[in-house]
Amino acid sequence: MDFKELMESARTCRRFKEDKPLAMTDLEWLVECARLAPSARNAQVLRFTLVSRGETCRKLFSLTRWAGALKDWGGPHPGERPTAFIAILMPGNGNHLVCYDVGIAAQTMQLAAASRGWGCCMIQSFDQTAAPELLNIPSDMKIALVLGFGVAGEIRVVAPMPADASFTYWRDAQGVHHVPKRDLSELVAARY
Ligand SMILES: Cc1cc2nc3c(=O)[nH]c(=O)nc-3n(C[C@H](O)[C@H](O)[C@H](O)COP(=O)(O)O)c2cc1C
Repeated sequence: MDFKELMESARTCRRFKEDKPLAMTDLEWLVECARLAPSARNAQVLRFTLVSRGETCRKLFSLTRWAGALKDWGGPHPGERPTAFIAILMPGNGNHLVCYDVGIAAQTMQLAAASRGWGCCMIQSFDQTAAPELLNIPSDMKIALVLGFGVAGEIRVVAPMPADASFTYWRDAQGVHHVPKRDLSELVAARY
């Protein structure tokens, strides 16, 4: 698979094979990949809290919100829920550069997961009070992003941008998840 094919396959995943849970060693491998990613000033200020299966995984799931655009769907049902989470922590007083590190780390882990057939959903919509409490986040750190992982259990495809330019993702009658992406011609601002 070349890199563009990996990118195409690495769509956000929100339904997983819960009967095939990821192990703590799988999460450690993902952070090993993020460990090697670029970092502003190479300061490497991010930290990662790993949650694999069990009660903490179930509790953290209940604090996350999934696919706000799919109004008739309340998130993954029992049997299709993520089996692991990685919370990306940043310093509470981190400057704007740290947010770049967060994005790079998150995307690195999403691609790493895709390379092994695992799905990932980046989640910014989570309970900002209860989640740090549950994970005993130190007071000088905050959760920048939560990533849900599991063996992928749904088909996701890239779709062309519709004529009305609506960028909302959607699910068809067969349960396939479609994600519109803008055409290259729309993205390239200029050529010199
Ligand atoms: C910073 C960020 C925050 C996100 N937060 C959520 C979230 O809270 N819940 C969710 O279901 N998806 C979330 N997503 C996933 C986006 O909805 C998804 O990336 C988008 O629909 C495009 O789909 P794609 O990742 O397959 O390209 C988030 C993505 C990013 C980059």
